[in-house]
Amino acid sequence: MPLGIFDSGVGGLTVLRALRDELPSESFVYLGDTARLPYGTKSPATVTRYARQAATALAERGIKLLVVACNTASALALDELREQFRNLSVVGVVRPGAEAAAAASVTGRIAVISTESTAAHGAYDREIRRVRPEAHVASRGCPLFVALAEEGWTSGAIAEAVAKEYLADLFGRTREDGRPDCLVLGCTHFPPLRETIRQVVGADVQLVDSAATTAAVVRVELERTGLLAGPDATPRTQLLATDAPERFARVAARFLPSDFIPDEVELVDLS
Ligand code: DGL
Repeated sequence: MPLGIFDSGVGGLTVLRALRDELPSESFVYLGDTARLPYGTKSPATVTRYARQAATALAERGIKLLVVACNTASALALDELREQFRNLSVVGVVRPGAEAAAAASVTGRIAVISTESTAAHGAYDREIRRVRPEAHVASRGCPLFVALAEEGWTSGAIAEAVAKEYLADLFGRTREDGRPDCLVLGCTHFPPLRETIRQVVGADVQLVDSAATTAAVVRVELERTGLLAGPDATPRTQLLATDAPERFARVAARFLPSDFIPDEVELVDLS
């Protein structure tokens, strides 16, 4: 059986890519809820309803593990999903990202950029301070990065101007004044903007995202449950979208290596 993965759009493909690198024998079915993106500006009740519907659609296809490749849904709906799918391992992206940041920061001053809902929920703050209680965490919602990533405008003057506007306050001071030494890209749409963000924050700031650490958590979970695919499995990837599958396929090509893009993206209805 494949692993099921969902996000509001193409952002979670950054996680899918890391999963494929970590687990090359596994099959994947990825759902982008493109009809209802963005999740990051919606209320917890709405995000939870959307997440339940996306997870149900994947579970009905037969999956052996669910990856919530969306920080917003991981922050707001993970407990509900675990409650609903008791027989399935459900892995979110917030805890792996928080643990990676806690390990990467030397000074314990950590900045987190995410969607507005993830920032408002304080999920990263809590998860980072669970492993590093003395850490200072500054969070900020950067919703325009989601639109830039969906549009493919990840570099150039507009992306740079947006990054400066969002990040100047957090990084425009000295270390002595509390400048963070680590920045968490706490939204799966943000890694494609990594180079632009890097130019704004400088080379001395560690940029952390949860893709690779989530993939490592998934491997451990598959090993624990005895569900790891054998070396002679034939891996297959399916992409599903809730709207505009051709557009999804086009944008996905910017996130995934060409040999990994399936021939078509299937349109699904979650309502
Ligand atoms: N990629 C999603 C996340 O990690 C959300 C983007 C959005 O739909 O607002 O939070």
